[in-house]
Amino acid sequence: MDYINKILSGDTIEVMKKIPDKTFDFCFADPPYFMQIETGKKLFRVEGTEFNGCNDEWDKFESMDTYKKFTIAWLTEVKRLLKDNGTICVISGMQSIYEIGSILRDLGFWVINDIIWQKSNPTPNFNGSRLNNSHETLIWASKSKTSKFTFNYKTGKELNNGKQMGSIWNFAVCSGNERLKDDNNSKVHTTQKPEALLHRVIVLFTKPNDLILDPFGGTMTTGAVAKRTGRNYTMIERDTTYIKYGSKRLENIQVKMTDIEKAIFDIKPQKVSMEEMIENNYFTLGERFYHKNGEYCILTTPNGYVEYNGEINSMHEIASKMMNKTRRVNAFDYFYVIRNGKLISINEIRNNYRKTLK
Ligand SMILES: C[S@@+](CC[C@H](N)C(=O)[O-])C[C@H]1O[C@@H](n2cnc3c(N)ncnc32)[C@H](O)[C@@H]1O
Repeated sequence: MDYINKILSGDTIEVMKKIPDKTFDFCFADPPYFMQIETGKKLFRVEGTEFNGCNDEWDKFESMDTYKKFTIAWLTEVKRLLKDNGTICVISGMQSIYEIGSILRDLGFWVINDIIWQKSNPTPNFNGSRLNNSHETLIWASKSKTSKFTFNYKTGKELNNGKQMGSIWNFAVCSGNERLKDDNNSKVHTTQKPEALLHRVIVLFTKPNDLILDPFGGTMTTGAVAKRTGRNYTMIERDTTYIKYGSKRLENIQVKMTDIEKAIFDIKPQKVSMEEMIENNYFTLGERFYHKNGEYCILTTPNGYVEYNGEINSMHEIASKMMNKTRRVNAFDYFYVIRNGKLISINEIRNNYRKTLK
């Protein structure tokens, strides 16, 4: 079956059964929440107009027990389809997030984080009878405890003004031009997710060219953001109207990648050894490695050991001693050599050597 960058039509569990094991790097799932809205009960805004929340047939289940069986079935398929180092992000509200979290754990997924999506423009509680429900929860979990999962930590820092990205995210609910409209100018879907939320998820938890599964495609928000950010997608949906408008949406998306989407900040520099840099004359045996405090050690052995006060040891150990640090420091952050009469960081020399390897 051709499933890369495609919308697959049909029941999600049946469709997933046709895809081979360990196909996907990541899954974003926005399943039915089982809102349990009472049939026939209408909600009215304070000024008297009717509020149309999610009261769709696809969100209805006979009982919580039926909902849990459905959740076990689709999560079991997702687990089979994820690569060993793959992760899943499931979103839901208080109506079902606890059941979903418990089932994820029962199936052997490993919860990495839960994330609060705080809505900057939530629907009010019209009756004033309880707290305004202003957030949804995303659970981010790996396929197993030992998965070596993708997390673009430095990209997160870039997005958060240089600070570690936290687990409370503030985004507006989907509205305005972003909201898909049908030919009668009515909204196509009641629960279309904001692209900004999907963008954050995708740039933090996936790499360019990864293959992303969304088993509950709706208006294809995940596919749209995946395509724009240079990832691949497989979207599953059984409602033909959603597929019709979602396909048009996907056709019009152009790839737009900056350093954030390329995850440039998280690309690990190539490993190189002192031995090869000495062999290639980037450093010379017998030369001095200076610390900014005026002390120095001498490069002594072909594998990069240095001599300081009669001790021959790794330059990291020696740098720690020079600075009276109990924790081992990285000598590349502290030592300099003299080139053309100027102090040059040994890290800069290592970067120059790396450039010759590309
Ligand atoms: C919460 S909505 C997803 C909305 C989507 N994230 C978006 O931004 O438009 C869940 C979707 O799952 C679909 N769905 C529910 N049960 C399904 C099933 N068993 N097989 C396939 N699709 C299903 C519904 O038609 C609905 O569009």
